[in-house]
Amino acid sequence: MQSNDKSRHSCTCSIIGTGSYVPVRVMTNDDMSKIVDTSDEWITSRTGIKERRIAAADEATSDLASNAARKAMEAAGVTAEDIDLIIVATVTPDMFFPSTACFVQKKLGATNAVCFDISAACSGFLYALTVARQFLNSGARKTALIIGAEKLSSLINWTDRNTCVLFGDGAGAVVMRCSDAENAPGRVLSAVMGSDGNLADLLKVPGGASSCPITPENVESRPNTIHMEGRETFKHAVTRMCHAADQALTMAGKTAKDIDMVIPHQANARIISAIADRLGVPEEKTFMNLQKYGNTSAATIPVALDEAHRSGRIKRGDVLLMVAFGGGFTWASTVMVW
Ligand code: UT7
Repeated sequence: MQSNDKSRHSCTCSIIGTGSYVPVRVMTNDDMSKIVDTSDEWITSRTGIKERRIAAADEATSDLASNAARKAMEAAGVTAEDIDLIIVATVTPDMFFPSTACFVQKKLGATNAVCFDISAACSGFLYALTVARQFLNSGARKTALIIGAEKLSSLINWTDRNTCVLFGDGAGAVVMRCSDAENAPGRVLSAVMGSDGNLADLLKVPGGASSCPITPENVESRPNTIHMEGRETFKHAVTRMCHAADQALTMAGKTAKDIDMVIPHQANARIISAIADRLGVPEEKTFMNLQKYGNTSAATIPVALDEAHRSGRIKRGDVLLMVAFGGGFTWASTVMVW
C-alpha cells in the first residue's frame, strides 16, 4: 500500500508535537545474566542493547501511553478537548477489550476523540500514522493523537535467553494535524506499508487468545510469551526495510543523499547498520537509542523521534526516513520533512 499526500490533496499532514515516556526501573545486561545464561558481552555484541526499562506491576500500557501523550500534547499546544482521534499501536493492550486507546482517552479526558488500537507489532506506529493521515486528509478528523506503546515485559518468557534479553517497555506519541501551508514543519511526504501473513509463525505470541487459550494443561509451556526465529526474522527485516525505504524515498522524490536522519525501528544495532550500509547512509545519520531501551516494538520510532527532536539531533527542515519491520510480518516506511 502506498500513499502520497501531494498527488491527491491540497492539505498537508504534519506532526506538531512529540512526547515519550519510559518506566523508571532500569534492567541492565548484568541483571539479565543473573536470570538466564547470558552475558553483557553477548547481548552487546549481538544486539547493541545495554539496558532496558521495565514497567511497574501496576503500570499498564495505557499509563505509559498517556504519559507520552501528555508530553506530545504540551509540545503541540493542544488540549485534551482538541483531540478528536486517538490511535494506539500496541501488541500489549491493557486488556483484549476495551481498546487501550479508550483507556488513554479516559486518562487524558479526551472526550471528543474516537479511539481504537492497531495491531501491526513493531510496524504499528507507522501503520497508525498512515491511518491517521487518511482521517485528516479526508477532513473526517482534525487533530490526531498517535501513540506507540508497549509493556513487552508482560509477554516475556524470563527463562528464554533467546528472547528475554531483547525487549523493553516504553511509549512515544505524536500529535498530527492537517494544514493548508504546503511547507508546514513536520510534514509527511510519503508512506509505504506491507504485510506477509505467510511468515506469521516466525515471530508471534501463540497462546492466550482464541486459537490457543491458556489452560491448566498448557500454562507450563508459556504459550502466552514471545516466540521468535531470530535469524530468519533478521534476514527478512533487513530486506524488507531496505525495500520499503527505497519505495518511500522514490515516492517522496528523494534519494538517500537527501536524508538528514534515518529513524529506524530499534531491534538490533546490526540490522540498523546493515540498512544504513545498503542505503548508503553514513552511520552518523542513523539514530540509535536501543542501547538504553532495547526493542520496545511499536514504541521505538516515536520514542526515537522525540529524543532526536528534543536533543537537537534533528532540526527543522531536515529530511527524515522512518522505517520499521515486525511480526506479521509487517513493514512500513515514511519520509517526512521535520
Ligand atoms: O522487532 C521485530 C523484529 N525483530 C528482529 O528484527 C530481531 C531479529 N533477530 C535478531 O536480532 C538476532 O537474530 C538475535 C539477536 C535475536 C539473535 O542473534 P543471532 O546472531 O541471530 O544469534 P542466534 O539466534 O543464531 O544464536 C547464536 C548462538 C546460539 O548458540 P549456539 O546454538 O550457536 O550454541 C544461541 O543459543 O547464541 C546463543 N544465544 C545466546 N547466548 C548468550 C542466544 N541468545 C543468547 C543470549 N546469551 N541471550
